[in-house]
Amino acid sequence: MFDPESIRSDFPALQERSGSHAAVYLDNACMTLKPTAVIDAISDWYRRRAGCHGRTDHLFGQRTTEAFDGAREVLRSFVGAGHVRQIVFTRNATESINLVARGLDLKKGDVVLGSGLEHNSNLVPWQVLVEEREVKREIVRVRPDTTFDLDAYMRRIAAGGVRLVSVLHTSNLTGVTFPVAAIIEAAHRNGALVLLDAAQAPMTCALDVAALDVDFLAMSSHKMLGPTGFGILYIADRHLDRLKPLVTGGETVLDTTYATRRIAPAPDRFEAGLQDYAGASGAAAAALYVQKLGPARIHDHVVSLNARATEGLSRLGGMRILGPADPLARGSILNFVAERMPPQDLSRLLNDAAGIMVRFGRHCVHSWFNETRTPDSVRVSFGPYNTMAEVDFLVDHIGRILKHFR
Ligand code: ALA
Repeated sequence: MFDPESIRSDFPALQERSGSHAAVYLDNACMTLKPTAVIDAISDWYRRRAGCHGRTDHLFGQRTTEAFDGAREVLRSFVGAGHVRQIVFTRNATESINLVARGLDLKKGDVVLGSGLEHNSNLVPWQVLVEEREVKREIVRVRPDTTFDLDAYMRRIAAGGVRLVSVLHTSNLTGVTFPVAAIIEAAHRNGALVLLDAAQAPMTCALDVAALDVDFLAMSSHKMLGPTGFGILYIADRHLDRLKPLVTGGETVLDTTYATRRIAPAPDRFEAGLQDYAGASGAAAAALYVQKLGPARIHDHVVSLNARATEGLSRLGGMRILGPADPLARGSILNFVAERMPPQDLSRLLNDAAGIMVRFGRHCVHSWFNETRTPDSVRVSFGPYNTMAEVDFLVDHIGRILKHFR
């Protein structure tokens, strides 16, 4: 039985207050809160380990090696990879995408295909390659409800010339999930590689990179209850030796002379310099925590919250919900434009009057807002610790604010 009330006791931040109100945290698509297990794992490294990985035999070196290698194994299992060499640690999904963008031998005329709903992190690195290497960037527009246009994609991929498809798995804007298995199958059939931006996915969808046979998958720990500044890039075996590292230096080599170097095998060859051991420990603890709750059960829970919030907002009237009407298709996200109130005012009033934290703006998907001429919006995004009572509190306060300023 999924019990958000008992989950809440694992999250110290939920004890915080905003003025006289209990904190109601509904900005989980930007940043999830951290359970004690994650905070303890991070702190444990600083308190009890604090050595270097893989090079020292002393007690703290051994403890760090154990924590770091153990974390890689946990995260390997979490994404369904076959081997730990395929799991490269980065700072976040953004850096993971940059590693692929810079490290693949993309050249003049190669087409990199994306969707019209990509986060800036899966847009800007490709724009830079257009300028630097004369790579061609093409976009498959999403449908008006932001779902993936599989027919348009199939037509484009079959026409040839696409070297890489780099698309989101689950949208941080509207919560829609793309048909990633069909995208990957068609790309491979037509000679293209696939990079999935899965930053928004892992809390509500069990990932299985081996079954998907995806070439690359980028993830951030901070959106799955883990620490900030820690991410993963999964790299399929067939690319491990060909992809160039983003940063070079210590840890990436087995031996050097003044003029030469012998490169270490993956994942070390991609991880230059001393690594974030505490971050890896925290990310692994987060993965274990998410696995314990179960992404499918988290999904069902956040969808039920989303359904109640959607119904409540619809009752208030004057709301335009971005994305599909059906909350089941939007997972943990309810993004809306309140016709009578600027989003920053609504967001600020929710925070100040009721301690409700949401995000307003363009949610790092400015390109879609510009293309569709959509005004800035307010995004509510749910996590496993949110409750129906919080949803009712939110809807009630939006109603009060709109009434007051009508
Ligand atoms: N990608 C983050 C968000 O959606 C920044 O809020």
